[in-house]
Amino acid sequence: MKGFIPEDKIAEILHAVSIIDVISEYVSLKKVGRNHSALCPFHSEKTPSFTVSEEKQIFHCFGCGFGGNVFSFLMRYHNISFPEAVQDLAKRYGIVIPTKRMSPGERRKFEERENILKINRLASEYFYNILLHASEGQNGREYLKKRGISREIIDRFTLGYADGSWNSLVQFLSKKKTPLSLVEKAGLIVKKRGGYYDRFRERIVFPILDVCQNVIGFGGRVLDQSLPKYLNSPDTPVYNKSRSLYGIHSAKSFCRTTDSVFVAEGYFDFLALNCHGIDNVVATLGTALTREHIRILKGYAGTAVLVFDSDEAGIKAAQRSLPLFTEEKMEVRILVLPEGHDPDTFVFEYGREGFVKLTEESLGAIPFLMSYFIAKHGLSIEGKARIIDDLKTSISALDGVKRSLYVKELAERLNIEESVVLEQVRKATSKDHKKKDAEDRKTGIFADYKIEKGILQMMVQFPPIVPYITKERIVEDFENPVLKKIGQLILQVFRDTGEVIVSDIIARIDDHKHKSLMSSLFLDEQIWDRGKCFKRIDQFRRGVNKRRGKILSQKIKEAQKANDYNLLMSLVKEKNHESRVSRDL
Ligand code: GTP
Ligand code: MN
Repeated sequence: MKGFIPEDKIAEILHAVSIIDVISEYVSLKKVGRNHSALCPFHSEKTPSFTVSEEKQIFHCFGCGFGGNVFSFLMRYHNISFPEAVQDLAKRYGIVIPTKRMSPGERRKFEERENILKINRLASEYFYNILLHASEGQNGREYLKKRGISREIIDRFTLGYADGSWNSLVQFLSKKKTPLSLVEKAGLIVKKRGGYYDRFRERIVFPILDVCQNVIGFGGRVLDQSLPKYLNSPDTPVYNKSRSLYGIHSAKSFCRTTDSVFVAEGYFDFLALNCHGIDNVVATLGTALTREHIRILKGYAGTAVLVFDSDEAGIKAAQRSLPLFTEEKMEVRILVLPEGHDPDTFVFEYGREGFVKLTEESLGAIPFLMSYFIAKHGLSIEGKARIIDDLKTSISALDGVKRSLYVKELAERLNIEESVVLEQVRKATSKDHKKKDAEDRKTGIFADYKIEKGILQMMVQFPPIVPYITKERIVEDFENPVLKKIGQLILQVFRDTGEVIVSDIIARIDDHKHKSLMSSLFLDEQIWDRGKCFKRIDQFRRGVNKRRGKILSQKIKEAQKANDYNLLMSLVKEKNHESRVSRDL
């Protein structure tokens, strides 16, 4: 997998980067003792079990079991390949990687992504310049002014304008010698009858940036009543709407300081709130909020406040995403705007103060759903049964105190026995637990082999023992093939470099599950000395001998049955030798 990137380059990057700096770009890390911890971005949890060690340059989540080094993190987080993760970090730290060693396929993909990002950047600057300086931008300037968008906001979000010509972007990029087939792949132009035409015309253009400030896509709004009102980039190699959030690049630091994020639906809602100094906001891009969105947001804020129009569609959208928040264990509140308003019109009418006041009145997920379902089903007998049915799973997913409080509240609001509600919630709970148990069993593949894992740990945490382990060929006798492979790798790294650096070793392991196993082992800090090491190694040898003894006894039995006298004699001899060796230990 990594044949085309030299090992020494990988090591150079690992030594140049700080895993804390990189991961804290995406996840809110808190220092706890020697390590940093956070809510895991890869699974749902309420208490942080995601642990990062600065000293060892590795991370591990004790909840979902995923872990590894800084590359493993980036690969999983961005869903990119190993070479892409290496390139990404190398670029950030100014390390040059000879790319000619990439497999042709990987290299093509990597370069294509890079080139599309460059094209997007160029296009963004082009639209911005037209909006600000060209006579063709006049209409755009007037429109934004009419909507109360200041110059400062235009600059901060590099808003732009696409003029009415069918090919001005085509021409601009052709002059820059940009291959138009790539511009088409970037979603900026459309092919027709052998030629190309601009996708965005006579529209205000909103560049969409990712957390690393790359321009990944665009949105565009018409200036009049024509349809479609909004146009977005199609999915491209760098853009996927269900994984992207408008404004995240700007919002992320404000989300950190406020520990909350407002989630709006529209570009102008986002801009209007920013105009009023509310800058911990993102907007979805014409799609319902997805699990991926929530996982991204969770890295920056503890609570999401969904700001939706008061219309039926807005409420439905909010309601659909609530179970996802419960599953992802992210706090969520619902801010319902007065009839006829969206965040944009509301904040321009009532100002920042009005909006803050509404925020204070926002409801948590369960109270919101309770009111919603009560209104929807009514309080007839049938209605009450439906309300409980619709709410039981959400309530059962809560932790103990909240669960019992909401059970009580629901019983009171429906005017029925608390025990009836509780019973329904319990039924939903036990179903959930069964599912979780099954998952736990699946992740427990490495639950055994404690002693072999202990030996790997001591090799890393007490390297002076490695020469002894090499000499005695201890690793050769490992029973678990994965642990054996990792052991051999550690020996090899020690032989090559004279030391054992965990992140280097992890870099040489291909399988993610094995990387995770390593990070969990080595984050579990043990104090080793020679005595403790020898004790553990002896324990291991006794186990090996017992195993061998058992196999021998089995073979002896078979030889007896088969009346194979010669084999029997040699087996007995071997067995006597074995037991003498174990007595000597
Ligand atoms: P303004 O009318 O400019 O205030 O926009 P809005 O944000 O209030 O519009 P609306 O509530 O109608 O839409 C919210 C969001 O949905 C927009 O910001 C777009 O992301 C998306 N959207 C709305 N209309 C369209 C459309 O016709 N096509 C696409 N692709 N997306 C749309
Ligand atoms: Mn609007």
